[in-house]
Amino acid sequence: MSVQGKVAIVTGASRGIGRQIAIQLGQAGAKVVINYSSNQDKANEVVKIIEQAGGDAAAIRGDISKVSEVEALFSETIGQFGRVDILVNNAGIMDTLPIAEMTEERFDRQFNINVKGTYFACQQAMRHMAGGGTIINFSTSVSGAMLPTYSVYAATKGAVEQLTRQLAKEFAPKDITINCIAPGQVSTELFLNGKSEELVDSFRRMNAFGRLGEPEDIANAVELLVSDKARWITGQTIRVNGGFN
Ligand SMILES: NC(=O)c1ccc[n+]([C@@H]2O[C@H](COP(=O)([O-])OP(=O)(O)OC[C@H]3O[C@@H](n4cnc5c(N)ncnc54)[C@H](OP(=O)(O)O)[C@@H]3O)[C@@H](O)[C@H]2O)c1
Repeated sequence: MSVQGKVAIVTGASRGIGRQIAIQLGQAGAKVVINYSSNQDKANEVVKIIEQAGGDAAAIRGDISKVSEVEALFSETIGQFGRVDILVNNAGIMDTLPIAEMTEERFDRQFNINVKGTYFACQQAMRHMAGGGTIINFSTSVSGAMLPTYSVYAATKGAVEQLTRQLAKEFAPKDITINCIAPGQVSTELFLNGKSEELVDSFRRMNAFGRLGEPEDIANAVELLVSDKARWITGQTIRVNGGFN
């Protein structure tokens, strides 16, 4: 496998999509850092799953909205595994509200985690990532739709798509690719929390297959982008959404 022996940091890997990405990269032979912000037990569970399958992993806490903690995440990874080859900027939050109810604090929190966290993790990658490396950022397919209450969340992800595009030519001289995955609705806490079964059903009907995405659908796309066959793909946002429209 092309990721055999490579070192991958997956942010927000204690739960949801990041958890599955970490498990699949571990199964493919990468040494995986499971970053999380608060759920240490869940992060340790992911480490155990990877180790029990014969892989190598470590859980490292770090709030990605704080630059000092992003720096520590990279230095601890390099201290433990010697290098970084793959960065998956998966950690993110979604806080949907009508504009009349949005607060400065909730606006800033979404931008700080989704945009600032992604940007400064990319900065660490620029400083420390090995040549031949890969960065994968996370947007959402909602950035191509018009959904009430999603404006701030979609704006953060629009920013992530632009960071991905604009950084491609800064990373290319280091032989590092940078792309963005924009999932559709995926069956995780982030999507399901606070939604009625009726609302979830309406989202199911918005894609071509009539089901929610599973974390594995997204982790499979990450595996495609980290493979050696994807080295000519950079600066792109790839919508992985079963035809969501
Ligand atoms: N699910 C969907 O339908 C969907 C659709 C489109 C895009 N996405 C994007 O996909 C990514 C993953 O979403 P998900 O559905 O898997 O979310 P999730 O189930 O809510 O999991 C979020 C993960 O991010 C971590 N996290 C949150 N804030 C953090 C911070 N400040 N620093 C470090 N880690 C932090 C959490 O850690 P703790 O466990 O420690 O809290 C958790 O591991 C996000 O970027 C999201 O915007 C999701």
